[in-house]
Order: sequence, then structure tokens, then C-alpha cells
Amino acid sequence: MENVRLGIVGLGNMGRAHRQNILDGKVSGIDLTAVCDIPKGLPEPREGEAQFTDVGEMIGSGEIDAIHVCTPHPSHREIGVAALRAGLHVLMEKPLAVHTADCQALIDAYEEHGRGKVFAAMFNQRTDPHYKTLKRLIDTGEIGAVRRVHWSVTDWFRTEYYYAMGGWRATWKGEGGGVLLNQCPHNLDLFQWLFGMPGQVTGFLNFGRYHQIEVEDDATLYFKYPDGKNATFITSTGEAPGVNRLEVVADRGLVTVEDGLIRWTRNETASSEFSETSRSGFSKPDTWGVEIPIEGRGGQHNEILQNFADAIRDGAELISPAVEGIHSVMLANASLLSAWEGETVDLPIDAERYAAILKEKGDSSTFKKKEIEAGPATADDFARSNKT
Ligand SMILES: NC(=O)c1ccc[n+]([C@@H]2O[C@H](COP(=O)([O-])OP(=O)(O)OC[C@H]3O[C@@H](n4cnc5c(N)ncnc54)[C@H](O)[C@@H]3O)[C@@H](O)[C@H]2O)c1
Repeated sequence: MENVRLGIVGLGNMGRAHRQNILDGKVSGIDLTAVCDIPKGLPEPREGEAQFTDVGEMIGSGEIDAIHVCTPHPSHREIGVAALRAGLHVLMEKPLAVHTADCQALIDAYEEHGRGKVFAAMFNQRTDPHYKTLKRLIDTGEIGAVRRVHWSVTDWFRTEYYYAMGGWRATWKGEGGGVLLNQCPHNLDLFQWLFGMPGQVTGFLNFGRYHQIEVEDDATLYFKYPDGKNATFITSTGEAPGVNRLEVVADRGLVTVEDGLIRWTRNETASSEFSETSRSGFSKPDTWGVEIPIEGRGGQHNEILQNFADAIRDGAELISPAVEGIHSVMLANASLLSAWEGETVDLPIDAERYAAILKEKGDSSTFKKKEIEAGPATADDFARSNKT
């Protein structure tokens, strides 16, 4: 089958890294036939790669079958909807959009115009074998019912320089949030992928605690599930070295994911059965330790891009369908809403009301963020960061 003719819009940190990976031959079945950015954002012209400064022109050019949207998230809705309406296959960068109202507009456009097309999202951490293995342990019932979850993911350290190099970053108007909208879509997506969606969310957030920004850079979230399961999620861009430890308390024992290892302290008898049948008031089930060593972190961005091409060419099942991207945005939005209003919120939140509150925050902001001119980061910068 013919190669997919792909256009990338947004040649900043992420778009350039994807472009380079394609040009380096790390993904097959894709020809990069067009790129689009403002004039100074465009790369050196290359034969066979048309250059555009207007995304509408690239979408309507006939030069591409598929588009990868790598612009700042406030523009995801408009560009994604236009591309879906034009009948293109669409790969969205994370987060799907800034708020659930925009996510819904994208999903509606896909349902109305995109049937038969591929609509995917760049949740590259779904390719990580640690999380894939954990999902298998949960979905097969191997570890029994999940009772409680805690994830501390505080290794998203970012500097003042990072925030200053993208004018849109870390403002209500430009980004619509901080660590929950920028770094944590990956983790929040994994959270809902592994454990499903909670019924209630409470967010305890600090805004600009570690950086000169107006949005959150420190968050402790509490999720209450319909089955009574409690979950907590802690994140920050201000702590170094930070930790990344996921703890899953299940009927069959405790599973942790940390430092490249899955450790399962396995209950010989499920804790519920032991509790019901034991004739002793203070004993616990015997346990044995199982370590599941896991090599590497999976194919990450290139695997998602490859999967996108394979879905278009051969009907491969998507690793991360874009329609699922609304869930991580819902968790982020609900956490912010809860913190602003000082109360627990029920899911789903009122999408239009949230969009209106966020707009008002952006419109009324007088915050002046430090800004610098910085050259685009490279794929190596992403490889050096804690995770991508
Ligand atoms: N999947 C990941 O691991 C990952 C990592 C980093 C960033 N991202 C996502 O990628 C997106 C971009 O982030 P970034 O760090 O590359 O930002 P960036 O600021 O480095 O780059 C954005 C680029 O988009 C261009 N742009 C903006 N609006 C445009 C428009 N309407 N038409 C054409 N070009 C336009 C800008 O000129 C800039 O070159 C964000 O949504 C971000 O969350 C994902």
C-alpha cells in the first residue's frame, strides 16, 4: 500500500522532534510531504516537503492524507476540527485540548466527518512495557480487585528557563493550566486507562509555587471511585530529584512500579478471603515477592506514529484513540475546578461552565510572565528529559 503523506503543523520542540525521527527513517510507511508553521518556525526547505504558513492551506492543499497537530493546545480544537472536516486522518498531540468542551467538539467532528478515518492521540507512555504489563495484571484479574491506588509522579522538574521559552506556556490564556495540562496528560491518561474514571475529584493545588507562573506547578489530587476505591495522585514540576512511584493495592497483594521494576508482594490467599476465613485476629496472608524486570520504555513517540501509519494503511488497532483523550482532560479540568471552588466536584463536570470560567481567568489576567527567545529543542533534549 502507498505511504501515508503526512503534514506536521507546529514545528516547535515536539513537531521538530517528530519530523527528525521520520527523516531519520525511524518510522516506516510515512512520507513527510508538508510542514506548517509561522515563517521563522519553518525548517530548511527540503525537496518533496511543501512549506505552509497557513494551516488551512496545508489542509486543503491535496499534498497530505494525514496531519499531525503539534501546536500549543489552545489551537488543537480548531485545527483538529478543520482537518477532520476535510477528511484527513488526524494525530493529535496531547492533551487532546485545553478543556472538555473542546475535546467534545473534536469528537463530534470525528463522529460526523471522520468515520473511516484514523483519529489518534500521542499518548506515547501507553507503549511503556511497565504500564502495559500492569494493565495486563489488572485486566486479567491476576492481582484481584484493585482497592486503592497512589501515584507520586514528581519527576517532571522544569526550570524557569523552560517556562520562559514558550510565550504560551503556563498562562491561563495560552495553555489553560500548568503541570496538569502539560506534563501530566500522560499520567492522567495512564491512570484512567489502568483504573477507569472516578466519580468525584478533589484538587489541592498550588499556583506558581516554584516558578514565576500563574498556573499550577504542584498538585495533590484525590479521586473517589464509584466502587469505593480511593486514589491519590501527586505531581509537581518543582521538586528535584522527584519520584515516580505507582502503588496499586489489590486483593492479591501490593504492586509497585518504580525504578524500572514491577514489584508484586503477592498474597498467597486473597486478602478478602483470608479476612473471612482466618481464625486469628491479627494474622495476615503469607506473601512472596515477585519481581518483574522490564527492559526499556517501549517505542514511545515513534511507536505511536508507526501505529498511526499502520492503522491508516492496514487497519491496525490504535494504541491510543483520540476519543479517549477527553478523560485525562476531564481529570485535569475537574482538579482545577475543585481547587478554584474549594470543594469536591462530581464527574462529568459541566464542560461549558468550565470553559467560561477558564476564559474569564485568561481575559482578566494581569500576570506578566518572564519570556526569552530560545532556539527550538531537539529530539536529544527530549531523550535527556526524565520522560517524553
Ligand atoms: N507527546 C509528548 O511527549 C509531548 C511533548 C512535548 C509537547 N507536546 C505537545 O505538543 C504541543 C506543542 O508543544 P511544543 O513544546 O512543541 O511547543 P512549542 O512552543 O515548542 O512549538 C509550537 C509550535 O507551533 C507553532 N504554531 C502555533 N500556532 C500555530 C498555527 N496556528 N499554525 C502553525 N503553527 C503554529 C509555533 O510557531 C511553534 O513553532 C503541545 O500541545 C504539547 O503539549 C507533547
